[in-house]
Amino acid sequence: MTDLPDRLPARLPDRLLDRLRDAVGEAHVLSAEADVAPYVVDWTGVHRGSALAVVRPGSTDEVAAVLRACHEARTPVVPQGGNTGLVGGGVPDGSGRQVVLSLGRMRDVRDVDPVAGTITVDAGVVLADVRAAAAEAGRLFPMSLGSEGSCTIGGNLATNAGGTAVLRYGMTRELVLGLEVVLPDGRVWDGLRGLRKDNTGYDLTQLFVGSEGTLGVITGAVLRLFPATPRRATAWVAVPSVAAAVSLLAFAQQHAGVHLSTFEIANRQAIDLVLAHLPGASDPLAAPSDWYVLVELAGSAVDDGLDEALESLLGAAVEAGVASDAAIAGSPAQRSALWALREGISEVQKVEGATLKHDVTLPIARLAAWTEATAPLLQEVCPGVRPVTYGHVGDGNLHYNLNAPLTDGRSDDDALRAAAADLTATIYDTVAREDGSISAEHGLGRTKAAAAASYKSDVEVDLMRAVKQALDPAGLMNPGVLLPPGS
Ligand code: FAD
Ligand code: MLT
Ligand code: ZN
Repeated sequence: MTDLPDRLPARLPDRLLDRLRDAVGEAHVLSAEADVAPYVVDWTGVHRGSALAVVRPGSTDEVAAVLRACHEARTPVVPQGGNTGLVGGGVPDGSGRQVVLSLGRMRDVRDVDPVAGTITVDAGVVLADVRAAAAEAGRLFPMSLGSEGSCTIGGNLATNAGGTAVLRYGMTRELVLGLEVVLPDGRVWDGLRGLRKDNTGYDLTQLFVGSEGTLGVITGAVLRLFPATPRRATAWVAVPSVAAAVSLLAFAQQHAGVHLSTFEIANRQAIDLVLAHLPGASDPLAAPSDWYVLVELAGSAVDDGLDEALESLLGAAVEAGVASDAAIAGSPAQRSALWALREGISEVQKVEGATLKHDVTLPIARLAAWTEATAPLLQEVCPGVRPVTYGHVGDGNLHYNLNAPLTDGRSDDDALRAAAADLTATIYDTVAREDGSISAEHGLGRTKAAAAASYKSDVEVDLMRAVKQALDPAGLMNPGVLLPPGS
């Protein structure tokens, strides 16, 4: 891959900025520090960069003109959607040479076809708006993330996002039928086909899903819609261990079948933080438990019997000693309160202090043994470190996050930072030994690019580099993200 020169020729940035202004209009090229500031720091606050400019195109043609100009000026581009990514992939590095391309102005829902079961949208449409447009047509777009009020479909596709509906509907890549993508040199690939059947060669749509802005800019997508699920039955269940949670999953599958839609875990530490920092949160159960599971069954208007199925599965679980207690939501407000306990965890962790995030998957059968074996290893590395564990246990995916130890009742962030590399290595090494993955759903971004390459075989890394080289030979799309710098 072509190495970029360390410095741009002196006049080049000015000429490039003029071309970008011609492409999208002066008002949509931001370069003043205060205007650029929100685009150069990520949601975690860990990744802070600087940008040559932030460009906000309003159409696919404008995105193409921006990429042509950047390509000719050999200037790297960082695509950005809602900037809710958790691995630093959507913000520029510290060089000040990269252009951030924000999709924030491309927010049109282009078409909804309830009979074909498709919705066609601009990449900058916010996930919650896609869900609302589907609901208006009497359909469901099932993807659901805690960040859905800000993240965009382009970002969801680029990260192959997961979330709380994967158990029933699959990851983002299972929800997409076609894409429109602007390539690094400004050419447009129109793959916006809503066909269920199209065996005409390599699957280019899937190539761009999960590519984290390193192969091109996604500007539009055709997504799958599903029958609406207005009926819900929801419970907050106390379980003694991860092993018990996995047994509860088996009960839920057996009693609820296809209606099982949500199966989310959280440890007591996570819930303690929510109760301490989330206004209005309260514990739905009388006695504390080490672990909890949020279970939800969902069905269409003609699906009767969800409440009964939930009660029978909980009864069987309590009898088998797999669950100790449960609170069943009796109203939409109670359901929202149970969901808030789960969805509030990411936000309250930030309030509590420094956090080290890990987003791992393991084969479900090994999840419990891995969790039990890993916790004491982490205490050896950093005494008092607090695992805040939650996530999509039905998919084998734990957010195995670590909060700093408490010293005199205060979060000792320095102790966590000093031990961070060793803590992360302990988690990744043990996950790799158990045939798991060090990124279940958040992607690699800048945070995990190097680590992921070190756990993959040479053959796999070579194949990934070959794909990058084929689509982006000048190495201008999001350098340093997904593949290690210099790849
Ligand atoms: P950004 O953060 O802007 O970008 C993410 C990556 O995609 C970057 O590499 C960027 O370059 C690239 N990109 C963005 N748009 C485009 C485009 N149009 N074309 C090409 N590349 C593009 N993630 C999950 O998977 N599951 C969860 O349950 C989940 N919950 C979350 C809860 C909270 C509170 C928060 C803050 C985040 C959560 N996330 C979750 C992470 C995040 O929301 C997802 O990764 C989301 O898909 C990112 O979308 P975005 O529009 O914000 O993308
Ligand atoms: C979640 O499931 O809540 C997320 O993926 C976000 C996080 O890891 O904090
Ligand atoms: Zn998650």
